[in-house]
Amino acid sequence: MLGNKIKSAVMVSLLAFTTGAMADVTFSATQDGSTITIDKAMFDTDAAKEFLATGKNPYIGNEAAIKAGKKKFNLYSCVACHGGKGEGAVGPGLIGANFRYAKDATNKGMFETIWHGTNGGMGAKGYGLMAPDDGLKPDEVLQVIAFIRSNSVVKATGNE
Ligand code: HEC
Repeated sequence: MLGNKIKSAVMVSLLAFTTGAMADVTFSATQDGSTITIDKAMFDTDAAKEFLATGKNPYIGNEAAIKAGKKKFNLYSCVACHGGKGEGAVGPGLIGANFRYAKDATNKGMFETIWHGTNGGMGAKGYGLMAPDDGLKPDEVLQVIAFIRSNSVVKATGNE
């Protein structure tokens, strides 16, 4: 009895420790690996907050989010350069198995690429010189990524 009580007390404090000590993830530019700062206040939904804390995209496999992400993928012209399912057009395919930037196999990496653009032909959020703080919000980028992953040819979730 007492042993169990002590065990559960230890578990609770361990849990408190891990959650309390969890630092937010840091984001780096796909262009040069430098740190990019995104105002924490922009992570304004439960999913976005979870992503900021863990780097994992909670919308993967979520039908409603995938549907919303598809809409944004069209609305923000991703479709024009990457094709209707992200299979590739003038821009590269986004659904694997390989990526130009290896980190785009992860959702955190893909988030950074979409948020801040690349050196080789894509501006932030896919726009030329658009400031990264305009346009898609973090929550919407996560939806777009959920849509892209739903088309993954290798059934990768990016949260692996
Ligand atoms: C004007 C055309 C254009 C638009 C619009 C555009 N992209 Fe891109 N995108 C590109 C090109 C070109 C590349 C390759 C860049 C490079 O090699 O550096 C790219 C690269 C990417 C990559 C990296 C792929 C890899 O293999 O690592 C991702 C992810 C991506 N785009 C997502 C998006 C999303 C999401 C949107 C919409 C918000 C979008 N793009 C809008 C042209 C575009």
